[in-house]
Amino acid sequence: MLFWLLALLILCGFLWNYKRQLKITNITDKYIFITGCDTGFGNLAARTFDKKGFHVIAACLTESGSTALKAETSERLHTVLLDVTDPENVKRAAQWVKNQVGEKGLWGLINNAGILGVLAPNDWLTVEDYREPVEVNLFGLISVTLNMLPLVKKARGRIVNVSSIGGRLAFGGGGYSPSKYAVEGFNDSLRRDMKAFGVHVACIEPGLFKTNLSDPEKAAEKKLAIWKHLSPDIKQQYGESYIKKSLEKLKGTASFVNMDLSQVVECMDHALTSIFPKTRYAAGKDAKTFWIPLSHMPAVLQDFLLLKQKVELANPKAV
Ligand SMILES: NC(=O)c1ccc[n+]([C@@H]2O[C@H](COP(=O)([O-])OP(=O)(O)OC[C@H]3O[C@@H](n4cnc5c(N)ncnc54)[C@H](OP(=O)(O)O)[C@@H]3O)[C@@H](O)[C@H]2O)c1
Repeated sequence: MLFWLLALLILCGFLWNYKRQLKITNITDKYIFITGCDTGFGNLAARTFDKKGFHVIAACLTESGSTALKAETSERLHTVLLDVTDPENVKRAAQWVKNQVGEKGLWGLINNAGILGVLAPNDWLTVEDYREPVEVNLFGLISVTLNMLPLVKKARGRIVNVSSIGGRLAFGGGGYSPSKYAVEGFNDSLRRDMKAFGVHVACIEPGLFKTNLSDPEKAAEKKLAIWKHLSPDIKQQYGESYIKKSLEKLKGTASFVNMDLSQVVECMDHALTSIFPKTRYAAGKDAKTFWIPLSHMPAVLQDFLLLKQKVELANPKAV
């Protein structure tokens, strides 16, 4: 009996794995649109999907990013200049994409553009510090999606939202985590709404990868700039040694980042080309072995482990 149960389990595992490997055909007929292609995941994705034969429309924030990408890719790849926070720019880009794709529609939309904003304790910040990451990561993503949706519906295609482990666990203060938690919420409701149209919506949750966004020196600079303008009260509560140690800790993250960005692009690839794409993809060792499992644990355990990483305050009773 035990033998047959084991054999059945192995067979199910094999079939599950086989199903996950089934791929769509006619890639060379399909158009995909990717935001934030100047650098990082978006840039690698644009180059990778161009090599695979897709018609890639790569949205770049800067002229220089667009020129550099064009120089490295085939004539099939087109770029558009796009600031996802500018509604008129988004509308124009969607119209341009509509003219390009015609009756085929848009097979893939990869919402990748994003920024980190300031990473610092919440009681150091003003509401303005939250606005920029929320504008780019959330409203920008929603704006691009809503404008491209008719084209994706036409192709019965795929939408891939790049979230973060910061959308599952809030590892620091500032607008990044709130924006990514909200991306997860938008992603989930959109996935259910689009089911009837045959559009698949997937979410990617990368751990910490080495890109411009995660540059610890830049994050430390921003944190220090905020510290310098804090009130004497807050400075007394946290103490001079706090800022020194926390900046060192921040810079220390450089030693354990994931270096291979292709892990994220492979998730995008599966979400676009598998006949049975997943709803969520975790990318990076830290995401798979620590952050995602921890996000399913009780809050008391999450707090215990995350608070252990924090630098102690000098004088929290000085309020
Ligand atoms: N790196 C990580 O550890 C990590 C982890 C989890 C999730 N993510 C997510 O992955 C995505 C890509 O980030 P990345 O790590 O590859 O960082 P990145 O290299 O900085 O790429 C982000 C891209 O978005 C562009 N961008 C910024 N603001 C924009 C705007 N308003 N409109 C359009 N494009 C804009 C940037 O352009 P410029 O280069 O010209 O500024 C850049 O090309 C983001 O959504 C990020 O939240 C990253």
